[in-house]
Amino acid sequence: MPLLLAIESSCDETAAAICKDGQVLSNIVATQKVHEQYGGVVPELASRAHMQHIVPVVDQAMQQAGVALEELDAIAFTQAPGLIGALLVGAQFARSIALALNKPLITVHHMQAHVVANLIDDPKPRFPFLCLTVSGGHTQLVLAESPTTMKVIGETIDDAAGEAFDKSAKLLGLPYPGGPLIDVYAKKGNPKAFRFPEPQIPGLNFSFSGLKTAILYFIQEHQQANPSFIQDRLPDICASIQDRIVSILLNKLKKAAFETGIKEICLAGGVSANSGLRNGLEQMGKKYGWKTYYPALPYCTDNAAMIALAAYYKFLGKDFADLSVTPTARAGW
Ligand code: KG4
Ligand code: ZN
Repeated sequence: MPLLLAIESSCDETAAAICKDGQVLSNIVATQKVHEQYGGVVPELASRAHMQHIVPVVDQAMQQAGVALEELDAIAFTQAPGLIGALLVGAQFARSIALALNKPLITVHHMQAHVVANLIDDPKPRFPFLCLTVSGGHTQLVLAESPTTMKVIGETIDDAAGEAFDKSAKLLGLPYPGGPLIDVYAKKGNPKAFRFPEPQIPGLNFSFSGLKTAILYFIQEHQQANPSFIQDRLPDICASIQDRIVSILLNKLKKAAFETGIKEICLAGGVSANSGLRNGLEQMGKKYGWKTYYPALPYCTDNAAMIALAAYYKFLGKDFADLSVTPTARAGW
């Protein structure tokens, strides 16, 4: 019955969660507002904000779960990938607690944890399953054989899906992060109003940089003819951009499902909060006889509950880390 504290600090969310035997008892996330004015995450400011938030966030997670530090069976933290300065804050904090309490330490891979977020609530996917993991920094097709054995079978060769959303939003003058706002406006627009190109990338890899350029030229062209084009057509533009990003993602997911014959299909990562992607997956699932899953909204964007769950499975396998372990910005699987 392991009782675990997990810490996530890979980007601009400082998060802590407690889980007991795979059940989430608390899940606290402090989203750093400081980056909004810069239109993107500023690494140095992220590290400083993590240092300010980490003690109150961990305290709140402990209190909400009604747990004392001495009761913990292990401490887990995101070891990779992410911003190195940001990762260091969570790593150092976790190592210090583990050392002070003489408890085991567990390292977690952030992208594997996004996939494992699908195992938090019921119904859970059965192994092996496919997971389309789409976040601000990554776009991956993952074949999960167990909670701790996964392989990446496709990924983006340039921008991530979340970046495609955020950069498109920036071109439209929307604040950072613009992905959720595109989702909101898209609900009131016509997804077929404008047609953006679908890149022809072989295999299971993705590309989004061409789409970004196409959107830039599209906006410039229309604004020359009508300076208030964005204002006049914002819902239609957002719906059309979202429709194309979703179709690029789902077409590759379909290809992966056909090639592997797997019919248990999941989404994960911040972009899996997108309503167009969720609906699109459900429709495709009905058409092809798949069982489809996506995490509850709080477990899509960065959080520590998914870190705790991933750590739970490593705890069961007694996969502990040495106290001297350090984080890494980039990490293979
Ligand atoms: O997983 P996440 O919280 O952080 C990373 O590990 O990168 O993902 C953040 C990304 C951002 O690009 C954000 O715009 C996008 O997820 N996102 C969305 C939505 N909610 C979050 N994109 C489209 N629609 C949404 N509803
Ligand atoms: Zn993430």
